[in-house]
Amino acid sequence: MSVFPENFLWGGAIAANQADGAYLEGGKGLTSVDLLPTGKKRFPIMLGQVDSLVPDPNEFYPSHEAIDFYHHYKEDIALFAEMGFKSLRVSIAWARIFPNGNDETPNEDGLQFYDDLFDELRKHSIEPVVTMAHFDVPVHLIEQYGSWRSRELVGFFETYAKTLFTRYKDKVKYWMTFNEINMLLHLPFVGAGLVFKEGDNKKQIQYQAAHHQLVASALAVKACHEISPDAKIGCMLAAGATYPYTCNPDDIFDAMEKDRESFFFIDVQSRGEYPGYAKRFFRDHGLSIEMNDQDEALLKNNTVDYIGFSYYASRATSTDPEVNSTTAGNVFGSIENPYLQKSDWGWTIDPKGFRITANQLYDRYQKPLFVVENGLGAIDTVNEQGEIEDHYRIDYLAKHIEQMGEAIQDGVEIIGYTSWGPIDIVSASTGEMKKRYGFIYVDKDNEGHGSLKRTRKKSFYWYKDVIAANGIYG
Ligand code: BG6
Repeated sequence: MSVFPENFLWGGAIAANQADGAYLEGGKGLTSVDLLPTGKKRFPIMLGQVDSLVPDPNEFYPSHEAIDFYHHYKEDIALFAEMGFKSLRVSIAWARIFPNGNDETPNEDGLQFYDDLFDELRKHSIEPVVTMAHFDVPVHLIEQYGSWRSRELVGFFETYAKTLFTRYKDKVKYWMTFNEINMLLHLPFVGAGLVFKEGDNKKQIQYQAAHHQLVASALAVKACHEISPDAKIGCMLAAGATYPYTCNPDDIFDAMEKDRESFFFIDVQSRGEYPGYAKRFFRDHGLSIEMNDQDEALLKNNTVDYIGFSYYASRATSTDPEVNSTTAGNVFGSIENPYLQKSDWGWTIDPKGFRITANQLYDRYQKPLFVVENGLGAIDTVNEQGEIEDHYRIDYLAKHIEQMGEAIQDGVEIIGYTSWGPIDIVSASTGEMKKRYGFIYVDKDNEGHGSLKRTRKKSFYWYKDVIAANGIYG
């Protein structure tokens, strides 16, 4: 018998800027992520070193076409339905609804696109799970207000949120406010559209922007509960437990602090107040966060219904300067863990860490968890028969799903699992197409060439069986 609940939301997750393309079609405005080229300029921009808010004709911007989900969504959803998906996580591009972010009225073409998308999903009995901001800020708001540095963004986001809940209240039951909200501290342009100038106090700006997003998120929760009372609205954390390298108390404390750097956001969104350790952090670093009189009550009274999170890898940390061999992984630097293998991109592979992370989150928040991202980015090759034998992906996912089953047996309440990139999409960190997560192969390369043809991989049939058996696999 399956340990997964009967209505478990098996599915997949994509994001507008990595899948949709059509970056200026249908009245959409330019967004921050449309300014991320491939190649060596990408990473500095992600960090907030931005010279221009206009695309450079000599660069290649993968979000502009991506996999053209905008025009292919019916075909793609039919494939998801064939796998038996119960849910699909998508994001709405803010600038498709409000091209400038603060327009007087929303863009009807954009609203209609999502109406059609949600109808298509419902036609196949697939539950839409919708992120309101997945790494995108309308460029106009960056130019005019410095993006989330400014309190003005709170009001613009609230209007955007109310517009979505009012329009889609009969079609969408699961919402999330900001994707990987803690990413703001690591990739400030990606997480919050922040652009830095010489001499800026970056920490001060980042935490002030974080406060604005947290207030905006609470206002969205409030509006969602008022406008669409049947819906659930969650937060979204880039998760992954941090392990101390040794049992030296300094390492243990360091690991706790690293985790708290991320938990800070969810502590506010889920428990409704700034934790004591954050206040100390602000004091110790000479930061002062401007807040309105009403913010405290607003945060307290409008906490999230569930905890959405991504899990790709655990992390490790050490206070010993001799232990300094680092590895990549969902942007957060980490000490190399000698017990674990790594992906082609150096991301640690740790299925048991998934169980540990889920337990950690549930112990802390006691709210349902929704695993809204997990997967393996890998290089796929098409063989002479035109097939893709991605046994490594099956292996990764099977082990993670097994550990998720263990977490459920530990008593952790998990409502769904949407694997990342069920169809190959553009990589967020590198902009590459060859870093593939999909059950469905998309014929497109890093330079943007290819027919965009969709092909089922071996993992397609495997995941179909997993869903059909409600998580039992062999
Ligand atoms: C998460 C993001 O950080 O990781 C996704 O929410 C992203 O947008 C995913 O794509 C995987 O990262 P990457 O860099 O391999 O695409």
